[in-house]
Amino acid sequence: MEVALVGAGGRGTGAAGNALSVENGPTKLVAIADVVPKKLNDNYDRLKTQFGAKVDVPPERRFLGFDAYKQAMDALKPGGVVILGTPPAFRWVHFKYAIDKGLHTFMEKPVTVDGPTTKRIFELGDLATRRNLKVGVGLMVRHCRARQELLNRIRDGQIGEIVAMRGYRMGQGGGTAPPKPEGMSEVMYQLSRFHAFLWASGGVFSDYYIHQIDECSWMKGAWPVEAHGVGGRHYRGDSLDQNFDTYSVQFVYPDGTRLYFDGRNMAGARDEFASYAHGSKGSAVISTLAHTPGITRIYKGQNIPRVNNRKELPLAADPNLVWAFPQPEKSPYQWEWDDLLEAIRNDKPYNEVRRGAEASLVTSMGRMAAHTGQIITYQQMLDCPHEFAPDADKLTPDGPAPVRLGADGKYPQPEPGVKKDREY
Ligand SMILES: NC(=O)c1ccc[n+]([C@@H]2O[C@H](COP(=O)([O-])OP(=O)(O)OC[C@H]3O[C@@H](n4cnc5c(N)ncnc54)[C@H](O)[C@@H]3O)[C@@H](O)[C@H]2O)c1
Repeated sequence: MEVALVGAGGRGTGAAGNALSVENGPTKLVAIADVVPKKLNDNYDRLKTQFGAKVDVPPERRFLGFDAYKQAMDALKPGGVVILGTPPAFRWVHFKYAIDKGLHTFMEKPVTVDGPTTKRIFELGDLATRRNLKVGVGLMVRHCRARQELLNRIRDGQIGEIVAMRGYRMGQGGGTAPPKPEGMSEVMYQLSRFHAFLWASGGVFSDYYIHQIDECSWMKGAWPVEAHGVGGRHYRGDSLDQNFDTYSVQFVYPDGTRLYFDGRNMAGARDEFASYAHGSKGSAVISTLAHTPGITRIYKGQNIPRVNNRKELPLAADPNLVWAFPQPEKSPYQWEWDDLLEAIRNDKPYNEVRRGAEASLVTSMGRMAAHTGQIITYQQMLDCPHEFAPDADKLTPDGPAPVRLGADGKYPQPEPGVKKDREY
């Protein structure tokens, strides 16, 4: 199975490594595309050192620039697999070309950051199904066996009806942007800091928080229909980014159940990275400390023991513990590739685009609620006409960037209560 990598950064390189590590048949990386020479070269070297002959990417199949994605995909025959590992602004552009070329796709999350591109991705996802192309979306937790078993147990009624959920993604910082270095173009600067710019990534909210919003919604068996939230900028200093450093959003499910989600990017404050489901008969831990290992558990009652850091692993015995997935667990980043390639090789139906786009949309809904200070519904988010980067397919390194500095020397920022029907 031949693989091409578009966006050879941290995760794209990681995904290529997972693709080359599957045990259900041979794989080979044959082309790489990026827009930054150093990323392309360094990560090619890294993959070559680790995987040797499985990396067959001579200089003439290493492509640079905003059209490089086409050349890398042109290097594959129909039926090959392309990895889309760029910031999400380019997802619909690259996915469309992959479908045109008859390629199976693995695309990283988020797959969209606004309403118009979500509608576009829904359509492209349906087109991929009609063409029998398999598509994986990097919400890898869905492939984690520990979470899958937890889901089965929740569906069996082991914690009763879910009445509330909690998610936390609180870390020491993220998404900042110091002033643009001299000599760097505006487009390349914004891309180099893509977590700082809503058009490129949906900001830290979409990029970081999507996983927990997705995994809680998966356990609940529904997507939230509206969100209401708060957030603010407290300590962002001279950073020019468009993020808040605190977010607290309530997501409401069709039966009225809430997911209470807290995000914080603030040095010195307590870290937390976890998600929980509370049921009428007990409670469940969906994530502890990180995406992997999941360390999923079920407890009698609602007292879930606090886990502060990795030094507290393995967890102490707890009299309320009902079930825990046995450790160690295999990484879901590997499982998602095992599952995708198994579907391709055995021609099984496999298309994660709709749920990946829905997860991206409900995450944008929470972000827009906090950024505007309004209740935002699923339908409002889907129909919001503000497309953050309508020219993502026409960007050039020296052309205009999707956001520009204002007269105050700042990029536009959300102002809850002031900007109400668009985020900036
Ligand atoms: N599933 C996960 O847990 C997980 C973890 C990390 C990142 N991600 C996702 O992966 C994506 C990339 O994140 P990252 O941390 O690897 O960032 P990164 O900056 O390390 O990598 C992005 C790469 O894409 C390149 N790029 C940007 N625009 C391009 C274009 N138009 N064409 C080709 N290449 C382009 C950049 O130069 C860079 O090398 C994001 O969507 C992020 O949310 C997912």
